[in-house]
Amino acid sequence: MTDLKAFQEEIASRLADTQDLEALEAFRIAYLGRKGKVTQLFRELGTLPQSERPGFGQALNQLKAFVESQIEAKQASLGKTSERSDSSFDPTLPGVRPRIGRLHPITQTIREICDIFTRLGFETVDGREIETEFYNFTALNIPLDHPSRDAFDTFYTESGHLLRSQTSTVQVRVMEKRKPPIRIIAPGRVYRPDAVDASHSFMFHQIEGLMVDARTTFSDLKWVLHIFLRKLFGKDLSMRFRPHFFPFTEPSVEIDVKWGNKWLEVLGAGQVNPNVFKQAGYRPKKVQGFAFGIGVERI
Ligand code: PHE
Repeated sequence: MTDLKAFQEEIASRLADTQDLEALEAFRIAYLGRKGKVTQLFRELGTLPQSERPGFGQALNQLKAFVESQIEAKQASLGKTSERSDSSFDPTLPGVRPRIGRLHPITQTIREICDIFTRLGFETVDGREIETEFYNFTALNIPLDHPSRDAFDTFYTESGHLLRSQTSTVQVRVMEKRKPPIRIIAPGRVYRPDAVDASHSFMFHQIEGLMVDARTTFSDLKWVLHIFLRKLFGKDLSMRFRPHFFPFTEPSVEIDVKWGNKWLEVLGAGQVNPNVFKQAGYRPKKVQGFAFGIGVERI
């Protein structure tokens, strides 16, 4: 027992001399490791006469607890000082700049819309911003002499290409490459001969949608667009389907949502015109589909 007292003092003074975490770990192994001095003493316990074992055992446990708590305290104090004196810390380095940017509202809106359609089974595809006259007009049942070209007339390049005036261009591009069933949406920028006002611009964003299968009716169109608009604006939304004309759909509608006490047009839609199916190489008697174009800025 007296030996243990002296031993404990030895431990305390050696620990006081320990100056860094590495030396502390060596100290821990020397005393508490598998072959450590304290561990060794526990082994000797078995060689003592039966009557001395409980007293010595208790004293050993106290010693072990003492060493453990001392090591822990030392570790905490060394850890703190080493942080302060760490030579690799250079206070003159520039700080880490916090991120202060965020996504543009248009990008956020496009993502939100695409998320909703993804859940409805639509795949997001990419279209071209620079198009040919064929995909922007002819393939969409807008012949050269058709008056509806006027509203969509756009910016032409010297090479005879144009900046697309609508994302509907992806309809024929997708159908040329794939067979039904098709369920796609295509977000992107479009260009028009429009003067800028609260709801118009020479450049804006649209999301085109196209669903084609053997039987895809106008009530499917209504259901999908109802679900979409309710998901986006909430269950209490009032909406209105208004008859309209688009060369590439028949029948066609424009859809308005109630906004304050006004109606705001947010998208155009309709059943794909058989002539568009023909342009894509489909047989109009075999397929049915609907298309829609959402104005992102309006949303
Ligand atoms: N392309 C039409 C527009 O820009 C919208 C639309 C898309 C209408 C698809 C019907 C079908 O106004």
